[in-house]
Amino acid sequence: MKVFTSKHELSGYLDTLKEKGKIIGFVPTMGALHQGHLSLIEIAARNTDCVVCSIFVNPTQFNDPEDLAKYPRPIDADIAMLEQVNCDVLFLPAVQEMYSGDEQWSIDLGYLERILEGRFRPGHYQGVTQIVKKLFDVVQPNKAFFGQKDFQQVKVIMKMVELYSMPVEIVMCPILREEDGLAMSSRNIHLSPSERVEALALSKTLNSTRENFAIKPISQLQQDAESFLQNSEGVELEYFEICNAETLMPAESKDEAGLVALVAAKVGRTRLIDNIIIK
Ligand code: PAF
Repeated sequence: MKVFTSKHELSGYLDTLKEKGKIIGFVPTMGALHQGHLSLIEIAARNTDCVVCSIFVNPTQFNDPEDLAKYPRPIDADIAMLEQVNCDVLFLPAVQEMYSGDEQWSIDLGYLERILEGRFRPGHYQGVTQIVKKLFDVVQPNKAFFGQKDFQQVKVIMKMVELYSMPVEIVMCPILREEDGLAMSSRNIHLSPSERVEALALSKTLNSTRENFAIKPISQLQQDAESFLQNSEGVELEYFEICNAETLMPAESKDEAGLVALVAAKVGRTRLIDNIIIK
């Protein structure tokens, strides 16, 4: 695996591959890799000629300085995992390589950045789109692969790609779960053994929402899920919403083409998100 820390050197290397007609796949990450990330690399490898993974803990997408400070950074373990799945290129820039001092610019993401995650993490998706735009500008991938776990992030990035007419295909890849249903996340390592059990309330609620979809109205599904989560030991619910999977607006009818249930909650001091496509 080739490792680059400079934008200039990475883009020079990728230009030589593009000149040979190679299709570039890109998997941006913040490191602390788990099987979920590796599945993105594997999907990218099956669909492109060269897979670039970036590891960059992006400061502008954290609202809470404590969250940024404690974000795990096990870089040696990450590199070993990427080598195991035959990732071709790792981009590992320092903060100064990606940001030049005090940058003040934003992207018009409209209501998408104010709903769901945006209500609890104001500015988060500005930070995400800033860094993803910068990374796309360097890598100029043909396809970029993102996990469904942050469903709203995928929508926001698609919106950015549309706004800037970027020539990149965004591919959303399935959530990977532990055997007991917990969605894989870099944050799971912060859960104590008892919190790890409490956290299962999220995937349980999502599954039962999907199971009961045919027999209960949306309002009832919403109410059942909220009351289950509010009464779950150790879980501090932020939101549970059943939304139109295209617009992320609250679902008004079961007849809408696609529906997704999304949840965010704190378990102890760890904030978790999860979702399930219910239709
Ligand atoms: O999903 C993530 O890990 C991050 O939000 C991303 C897309 C790598 C941007 O920092």
